Amino acid sequence: MKRALTFVVVTLSLTTTILQAAGPQMASTGDRGRYLVGIMGCNDCHTPFKMGPHGPEPDMARFLSGHPAGMALQPPKISGEGWMWAGAVTNTAFSGPWGITYAPNITSDATGIGPWTEENFLKAIKTGKHLGVGRPIFPPMPWQAYSRATDEDLKAVFAFLKTVPAIKNQAPEAQLAPPPGAPAGAAAAPPAPAKKK
Ligand code: HEC
Repeated sequence: MKRALTFVVVTLSLTTTILQAAGPQMASTGDRGRYLVGIMGCNDCHTPFKMGPHGPEPDMARFLSGHPAGMALQPPKISGEGWMWAGAVTNTAFSGPWGITYAPNITSDATGIGPWTEENFLKAIKTGKHLGVGRPIFPPMPWQAYSRATDEDLKAVFAFLKTVPAIKNQAPEAQLAPPPGAPAGAAAAPPAPAKKK
């Protein structure tokens, strides 16, 4: 009996240690989401960069609004051995073997995640598919790493995103490269499931 009790106590204290390691206690889910978005680096790719006094920095007036509409780019000419991919001057567009991807708007606007449900968001991050059902989500969106977050943390991230001031900005569509070995003219990714009329 005493042994069993000791076991319970040890287990409980271990659990507390693990929970504490998951980050500081937050007053609300939104606060936890703000903290997570800060340490998970969403800003680095979803907020356009501008030149600041100390070099390129995220333009906080365009916080999380994605790659600017109408600024579709041509693939860069990458020369020199050892290079594989490149980032645009805004740090919101990326070119590599996958083609060109543009970080979308993830503010609460209708052109962002406004129409998304929490389920859409969790599924997208966990499956690496657009809205959890569509085409694969390509680099450099690090969904593989984020898919290991707890449901609770992903829900907190989504709750915070829903509070981010709406900015209207429809990022350009990705220009995806055909997969390696595909016949010429093949589509890069399976088409999104047909919408019911
Ligand atoms: C290293 C750059 C990078 C980082 C960091 C990053 N993203 Fe992304 N994200 C992208 C790119 C690029 C795309 C578009 C990929 C594509 O078109 O396939 C994207 C796509 C998305 C999408 C759209 C998914 C879909 O279903 O189409 C969401 C939502 C998203 N990111 C949220 C986030 C959140 C939240 C964070 C922080 C927790 C984050 N991203 C961090 C680059 C990044």
